[in-house]
Amino acid sequence: MTSRSPIAPASAPESGDLPASRLDPSTATPNADWWRTATIYQIYPRSFADANGDGMGDLAGVTSRLGALQELGIDAIWLSPFYTSPQRDAGYDVADYCDVDPLFGTLADFDALVAEAHARDIRVIADLVPNHSSSEHPWFQAALAAAPDSPERARYLFREGRGEGGSEPPNNWRSHFGGPAWTRVVEADGTLGQWYLHLFDSSQPDFDWTNEEVHDEFRRILRFWLDRGLDGFRVDVASSLVKAEGLPDFTPSDDDEMPPYDGRPAVHDIFRDWRRLLDEYPGERILVAEAWIKPLVRRADWVRPDEMHQTFNDVLDVWDAAPLRDSIDGALTAFDAVGAPTAWVASNHDGVRPATALMLTRAERDGGLGPRTTGIPAYDVSLPRARGMAMLMLALPGSVYLYQGEELGLPEVTEIPDSARQDPTFFRTEGEQYGRDGCRVPIPWESAAPSYGFGPGDASWLPQPAIWRRLARDRQETDPESTLNLYRAAISLRRSLGLDRGAIEWLDGYPPEVLAFRNGDTIVLANTSTEEVPLPTGEVLLASAPIEHNVLTPDTAVWIHA
Ligand code: NOJ
Repeated sequence: MTSRSPIAPASAPESGDLPASRLDPSTATPNADWWRTATIYQIYPRSFADANGDGMGDLAGVTSRLGALQELGIDAIWLSPFYTSPQRDAGYDVADYCDVDPLFGTLADFDALVAEAHARDIRVIADLVPNHSSSEHPWFQAALAAAPDSPERARYLFREGRGEGGSEPPNNWRSHFGGPAWTRVVEADGTLGQWYLHLFDSSQPDFDWTNEEVHDEFRRILRFWLDRGLDGFRVDVASSLVKAEGLPDFTPSDDDEMPPYDGRPAVHDIFRDWRRLLDEYPGERILVAEAWIKPLVRRADWVRPDEMHQTFNDVLDVWDAAPLRDSIDGALTAFDAVGAPTAWVASNHDGVRPATALMLTRAERDGGLGPRTTGIPAYDVSLPRARGMAMLMLALPGSVYLYQGEELGLPEVTEIPDSARQDPTFFRTEGEQYGRDGCRVPIPWESAAPSYGFGPGDASWLPQPAIWRRLARDRQETDPESTLNLYRAAISLRRSLGLDRGAIEWLDGYPPEVLAFRNGDTIVLANTSTEEVPLPTGEVLLASAPIEHNVLTPDTAVWIHA
């Protein structure tokens, strides 16, 4: 047996890799384009680390674990919502945009987190949720108490119903979480009255962005956090803020047709306005859009030079060369045309984790997985594809987003009982869809500790599976072949080899099921076929599985020095 190279070496990147001036806005040459090649790590605060032991992650927990992220070699963190919220959609239902929910701590905890992250050369961006508020937001409460046609109602989208006595919703739009996108209110006199629009849960009423008051309020919110040192925002549902005039019915004629609440041209004026505001601040604060606009080429409109900095590429969630190549080419072409970097992503808090998903078709996993789902692959069978995908993604030029636990190769947790489920999708579809809890389970830090080191005791807001013991970070740290060490090596090499600021050129001479490209002096191969593929000559720099006999086995990716 000839072994050409071990897999990932267990070395952590040097902390001195980044110049000290990188985050100091007062220097003459701050790293203006940091976001173009940044590796950004998504923290889901509920599930990252719990400092006070109540079973819910918190900001002090994040601060206490930043050292592990510095060792991973990331450039920035993105915090999912930690604002005051009744938590009906895990914080994407905001009741006070300028405060921290007591579940997660205080504004002082936020300040301490930012200070500690900056001291470690890690930037901090946070979710901003401008499409809708919580129904407990004072504005919505005031709207409920006020009369139809009042200024209070004009901040949201209240409309009269259709049909006899207004008993039918104003249009046929559906909530993304299932059921109608409208809920009827009881007016002050006790009669059934108007309906309000909610593209998500009924506890998430949509703002009316034709109302200047909404614009002013969000400018205030942006400044509030920028003044506290935040480095930018991930803008939730960025494509849906503006709805088509008259809120017309929507019956799609094909899959690519955008609904009347997505991608309206006027939405871009909002982001131009925000960009001007962010540009007043030193140190390149950024906006990244969640805008799942189709076709992809239209998504480039979100990242024109005077708009947002980034918008997520389609999630790289199929292990199949042809669609992956289309997705990569499509993104590079679209975003290059406007001078924007691509923001690659293989997982987030809304989708089935790659270490499970990549063995399943979209139809098999859309809507989530649970105890009654059949055909879920065994962990050791599905992990190799997730490792291969990580190496493919981290070899692409541009910026990369990682979702917490991805670097540990965590699988989707499918054994959560119905009684423990929290995602509104599960309830709005009456259990037909399991929803997203399976990718949100508190992550494991220490193999032998209670709650696997998530918190000081056993408490965990979603039950943790037994496989966490084996996958805990402390175990992986000392295992040179662990997924954690593969990510560490890939993130470090990505920068030192210049893959992040390179360009790709597809290579001929490989079977169609093999993705093969060159990025600078590095050849990257990802084998999505069921056959072994001979390797080209050159030194193996990193591989997602051991390389033997000069061949690339199925479900494996490799970087070779050409
Ligand atoms: C997208 C977020 O990623 C998701 O978690 C949330 O439920 C919806 N937007 C609604 O805010």
